[in-house]
Amino acid sequence: MVQHALERGYEVVGVCRPQSVDKLKAFADRVTIVPGRTDDRDVIRRAVAGCDAVLVVLVPWGVRNYASGTAQAVLDFAAPDARLVFSCGWHISRDGRDVYSWQFRTLVKLIGWLARLARLVDIDDQVEACRRVFASDRRWTVVRGSDLEEGDSQGLPVWSRHVGDPVLASNRTRRVDFALFMVAAIDDEALVREAPAIVGCRTPSALAHTTSGSGAQAYSAAVPVQRG
Ligand SMILES: NC(=O)c1ccc[n+]([C@@H]2O[C@H](COP(=O)([O-])OP(=O)(O)OC[C@H]3O[C@@H](n4cnc5c(N)ncnc54)[C@H](OP(=O)(O)O)[C@@H]3O)[C@@H](O)[C@H]2O)c1
Repeated sequence: MVQHALERGYEVVGVCRPQSVDKLKAFADRVTIVPGRTDDRDVIRRAVAGCDAVLVVLVPWGVRNYASGTAQAVLDFAAPDARLVFSCGWHISRDGRDVYSWQFRTLVKLIGWLARLARLVDIDDQVEACRRVFASDRRWTVVRGSDLEEGDSQGLPVWSRHVGDPVLASNRTRRVDFALFMVAAIDDEALVREAPAIVGCRTPSALAHTTSGSGAQAYSAAVPVQRG
């Protein structure tokens, strides 16, 4: 995400926990790093000051409201007109109109239950974080990622408003392209107050949809695809 932002000419301020600062060393002379937890309100207040956009990775780590604390701090301290772009997974639903397979629902329930039992992850807190974002009148976008894979960029993912749309069936996005979508969303007015569910633009479902539809370019430009 940092690389994409620098390539687009943004001045970048990054927040990560102190033990993770090293992972950004390749960018150390080109970005400002604010070490700290993203749910630390003071850290976020300092980091977002003067920023035109805030890209937020919402992760439900631990059982102390890390995701909702992070979202709330950004909502409270980002500049009023800032673009706010949050990441999460397909399991988050904005309007309840997403259609999930039983396998997906079972997996989310099982993983959520086991992880909470081990006090590792609290998926409900990521749901709460997104609920707060959806309820806000800020210029937000919540990017809902499919399963991630590593590898070189394939281009800007395609998206739909609802999980269950055939264009998303491949359920796979390159991590680097998820990041690309987050950064590209800053300038995409069509994504303001949208919760796009994304999939890689070279996946079989995206290709199948675009060949019978209006062409790959249209989807690469993040045209919304609505269900029937
Ligand atoms: N992985 C997937 O297949 C998948 C699928 C769909 C959507 N997503 C979404 O994509 C985004 C990134 O997912 P990811 O799987 O890359 O997440 P991840 O591996 O957990 O990494 C994201 C960040 O979480 C922080 N983190 C890791 N362990 C932590 C802990 N114990 N306490 C607090 N923070 C911790 C790290 O921040 P620091 O920089 O501070 O170390 C890290 O950069 C999330 O919004 C997720 O919901 C992921």
